[in-house]
Amino acid sequence: MNTNNLSTTSSPYNYQVVRQFAIMTVVWGIVGMLVGVILASQLTWPQLNLGLPWTHFGRLRPLHTNSVIFAFGGCALFASSYYVVQRTCPTTLFAPALVKFTFWGWQAVIVSAAITLPLGYTSSKEYAELEWPIDILIVLVWISYAIVFLGTLAKRKTSHIYVANWFFAAFILAVAILHVINSAAMPVSFFKSYSAYAGTTDAMVQWWYGHNAVGFFLTAGFLGMMYYFVPKQAGQPVYSYRLSIVHFWALVAIYIWAGPHHLHYTTLPDWAQSLGMVMSLILLAPSWGGMINGIMTLSGAWDKLRTDPILRFLIVSLSFYGMSTFEGPMMSIKTVNSLSHYTDWTIGHVHSGALGWVAMISIGTMYHLIPKVFGKDGMYSIGLITFHFWLSTVGTVLYIASMWVNGLMQGLMWRAYNTDGTLTYTFAQSVEASYPGYLVRFIGGFIFFFGMLVMACNVWKTIYGKNVDTEETASPATVATSEGVAL
Ligand code: HEM
Ligand code: HEM
Repeated sequence: MNTNNLSTTSSPYNYQVVRQFAIMTVVWGIVGMLVGVILASQLTWPQLNLGLPWTHFGRLRPLHTNSVIFAFGGCALFASSYYVVQRTCPTTLFAPALVKFTFWGWQAVIVSAAITLPLGYTSSKEYAELEWPIDILIVLVWISYAIVFLGTLAKRKTSHIYVANWFFAAFILAVAILHVINSAAMPVSFFKSYSAYAGTTDAMVQWWYGHNAVGFFLTAGFLGMMYYFVPKQAGQPVYSYRLSIVHFWALVAIYIWAGPHHLHYTTLPDWAQSLGMVMSLILLAPSWGGMINGIMTLSGAWDKLRTDPILRFLIVSLSFYGMSTFEGPMMSIKTVNSLSHYTDWTIGHVHSGALGWVAMISIGTMYHLIPKVFGKDGMYSIGLITFHFWLSTVGTVLYIASMWVNGLMQGLMWRAYNTDGTLTYTFAQSVEASYPGYLVRFIGGFIFFFGMLVMACNVWKTIYGKNVDTEETASPATVATSEGVAL
């Protein structure tokens, strides 16, 4: 993709790769969420599975999770981390050839996933379904990413490393370790491998990976985004630089222990399950440290929320982050988990984090960053951003509320029994009772997806609209933090 000719801004930074990743964030967001909408419709109208293996729920579901997490979320993280590290250091990206490789390599991973998953090639490990040749490509891209990011930090012109970069660096390093350890496997053919671990150990390694994919891919990286784009968009210093450092270390130290909450009441030793539960409860504090720091950054400037829909995206995403990180620790309590596990409550929790937090902060970030890297003085239409904001908020609320109702109802129906010890409801009755919730989820998901189409139009009009002739210089930019650090 040649996006060079789309900008007239003469910038000392490498914005080419940021432009590429930013556009692909929107493209993969649309693709991944469209698959989500198809899944939601299949759960409402099962005949939409079409009776074909390639369009079956079981194959499309990992396509959805991979495309929204790694394609949409991944491209948003690449774009924002490359943008932020250059502007805060301030210097251009290290190793330009590797930078290009990270873009094309990552797109190759995504396209390979989009081909192999519907064909049924899978390692069967959740969020790590891709087969070993693709896993190796991921390692190569990720090592290049680490070299570029850390190399850029190493040649920075400031003595200080701004906190957003701490979060991005932790995300990059942790994901490398998690991916390599969890994907260790013995290939038996080009498209099939078996895990290096067996039985309960395999499950434990998988959920150590799975939960830290949440902790580092879906949380730490996006907190990095938050620490740059919230203060920039609000034009305010970060509320407390000290809090950001304290909750950073607490978050990375505690997340790594919480994985066993995915394996309650399994063959995992009981002490390990309880350890996972306790660590998850403690995790509330560092998680809320980030939420409080982000939201309080707006102190004294709350009125901006009335007029700035980009800021609304960023701040509302933090509210959903706070909500899902309150709910998660509650669900990790064993007695609560005995009700929520296997039900749609988990799906509601996932999407309050995924749509409310991950998608909304990425969307806000893209609206801030896209005009800047394409040399425009702002997005084409603020009205369309406001419209998108309401679509996203209403869509998320409909999605998660319907799943909470379904989840509680399913959990309670499954455990209800009569005085003679027989079950009050059959499983089929609980499925039938879930239909209204599935319909509401489909409507909410479709509304959220429609918002992405509105975004695509706005981005298109922005990119191909009039340029601004601004000259940028490589000096740390405009907003000071409370500790006097510029970003
Ligand atoms: C303090 C933070 C959090 C804690 C302690 C936590 C805890 C939990 C618990 C207990 C479950 C249910 C496990 C089960 O019954 O199988 C769960 C599932 C899940 N959570 Fe969270 N959560 C947190 C934050 C988040 C956030 C912010 C996101 C997304 C951005 C997220 C994404 C997920 C996903 C994807 C699953 C489903 C995993 C699966 O079974 O496939 N969580 N979480
Ligand atoms: C239009 C938006 C979306 C719709 C309609 C949608 C719909 C769905 C559906 C129907 C499922 C399957 C639920 C089940 O197995 O019962 C699902 C699973 C999942 N989705 Fe989405 N989704 C959307 C956006 C997203 C986004 C943006 C993310 C992440 C950033 C995400 C992450 C996930 C995850 C991790 C799961 C697996 C949950 C689990 O195993 O517990 N989704 N989604």
